[in-house]
Amino acid sequence: MSPQGERFRLPTAADEAREAQRLRARVARERREGREIVVVMGLGFVGSVMAAIVADSQRPDGKPGKFVMGMQRPSPRSFWKIPLLNRGVAPVKSEDPEVDVLIARCVREKKTLIATYTYEALRLADVVIVDVQCDYLKETLDNCRTGTTDMLALEESLAIIGERISPSALVLIETTVPPGTTEQVAYPIVKKAFERRGISSDPILAHSYERVMPGRNYVASIRDFWRVCSGIHAEARERVVTFLESVLNTREYPLTVLDRPIESETAKIVENSYRATILAFLDEWSRFAERNGVDLRKVIDAIRVRPTHSNIIFPGPGIGGYCLPKDGALGLWGYRHLLGWHDDIFRMTPLAIDINDTRALHVAELVRDALRNMGRPIAAAEILLLGAAYREDVGDTRYSGAELIVRRLTEMGAEMRVHDPYVERWWEFEAQDEYPKPGYSRARFFHRQDKLKDLRIEKDMWKAMAGVDAMVLAVRHAAYLELDPEQVVRAVGKPCAIIDCFCLLDDARIRRYFELGCEVKGMGRGHIQRIKESVRRGH
Ligand SMILES: NC(=O)c1ccc[n+]([C@@H]2O[C@H](COP(=O)([O-])OP(=O)(O)OC[C@H]3O[C@@H](n4cnc5c(N)ncnc54)[C@H](O)[C@@H]3O)[C@@H](O)[C@H]2O)c1
Repeated sequence: MSPQGERFRLPTAADEAREAQRLRARVARERREGREIVVVMGLGFVGSVMAAIVADSQRPDGKPGKFVMGMQRPSPRSFWKIPLLNRGVAPVKSEDPEVDVLIARCVREKKTLIATYTYEALRLADVVIVDVQCDYLKETLDNCRTGTTDMLALEESLAIIGERISPSALVLIETTVPPGTTEQVAYPIVKKAFERRGISSDPILAHSYERVMPGRNYVASIRDFWRVCSGIHAEARERVVTFLESVLNTREYPLTVLDRPIESETAKIVENSYRATILAFLDEWSRFAERNGVDLRKVIDAIRVRPTHSNIIFPGPGIGGYCLPKDGALGLWGYRHLLGWHDDIFRMTPLAIDINDTRALHVAELVRDALRNMGRPIAAAEILLLGAAYREDVGDTRYSGAELIVRRLTEMGAEMRVHDPYVERWWEFEAQDEYPKPGYSRARFFHRQDKLKDLRIEKDMWKAMAGVDAMVLAVRHAAYLELDPEQVVRAVGKPCAIIDCFCLLDDARIRRYFELGCEVKGMGRGHIQRIKESVRRGH
């Protein structure tokens, strides 16, 4: 079933045979047009848009140079992506209007992009791009060292690739992986599969990681952005450079070519660990600010003026997204389990992840304290969370701080409602028995989580406000930035507690909420107390 509720029948073996035949005929036609055949494995947040970018690329003569088959397993949870994409509809939701336009153009007008569920597509490929997930499974909420890398999807994909591709096909791994993976995991899998098929040549394996930012600049963050790449040998390096130069805007954003895949794999892990670390570092200063009358938002704005410090950013209610909570941990894991070192050289990287993983729990403390100040207990309080995604203007809920806010407040006895303009279904709750993997929901770190399976996203924000005791502003979605306090209190029907997790409220709004009888608290916003006192004194 698609997020919009449309049902699709899963394909049978007979369907698959027909699909393979259809692909062979189609690819023969495309080859006659002189097009390179590209298969993108994994139509997730990265693969679906990367597939469209490749399909949209042009030869120097202005004609399409590639025919792209996006390949996705026909699993009950993701099969819907295939029929939707074949209609020209993007399987991901984003604030970037170019995503929908690009996919519709490639599927309906240029006819350079299709989606399929059969691995037989791989036999027809000149280039295979691997965009499947490589997860890190944590055993505890606040110690990432105890977790382990789950490479199953990647290893299975590579085995299937090795069994089917032409020996001359380039395999480009874009998945974020523990350093060492391309040469120590991918190479042996594909090489052995080749040997079983009597192929003696080396596979042509390359690595180039994604820096995609699904948001307002989703498409540009893939196409018009700098890339790092590498290959396992000179031929792989040359092939990946030629390919990326033919699909990305490398004239304005030149490629960085590194010697070995372990270097480009490490670059990705260090890049994201750096980001996770500067975010984690602000957690303690956020607490400091709350306890000492400091508005961290103004402090950060003051510091950012200095060019050397312009990338300092407020961490919000936890650092979600698929990547920052796991990538550093993939590095630690690879150091030990792929590269064979037993000593423990890592201090900052895991600490940053652990701090970020638990930051959201503090929001529940703020809600509790705000309600207490209003003389209301948190047990049975009605609480509306505005924003489920991990960041503004995307529909991606993976490892969002918002999830932990819901879980903690629920175990404290609150009744939760949730609104998010970009999220249709919040699978982390609806499917918490099996998502992200059976036994690996973050539900297991909390009590009383069963009823959250019934949590549904409210579509009408104003209706959802009716009668709530507290409202948590969790994400900087455009729809939440300009909320008018008068309108909010009218929609709620009474004064309520407002918890600002992401510096959404300016001082004028904070003041107005107090004047309307509300209580306000915010992460990193210790100056709120001053505003409250000044309203009380009537200034
Ligand atoms: N999402 C981001 O913002 C982002 C940014 C940079 C890098 N990355 C990295 O890119 C990679 C992909 O991330 P994503 O966000 O697109 O993940 P995703 O989970 O959205 O997509 C992965 C897709 O691969 C499919 N898949 C798994 N096994 C398959 C198989 N055997 N055959 C075909 N399809 C298969 C899954 O069903 C899923 O649709 C990850 O390594 C991630 O760390 C993601």
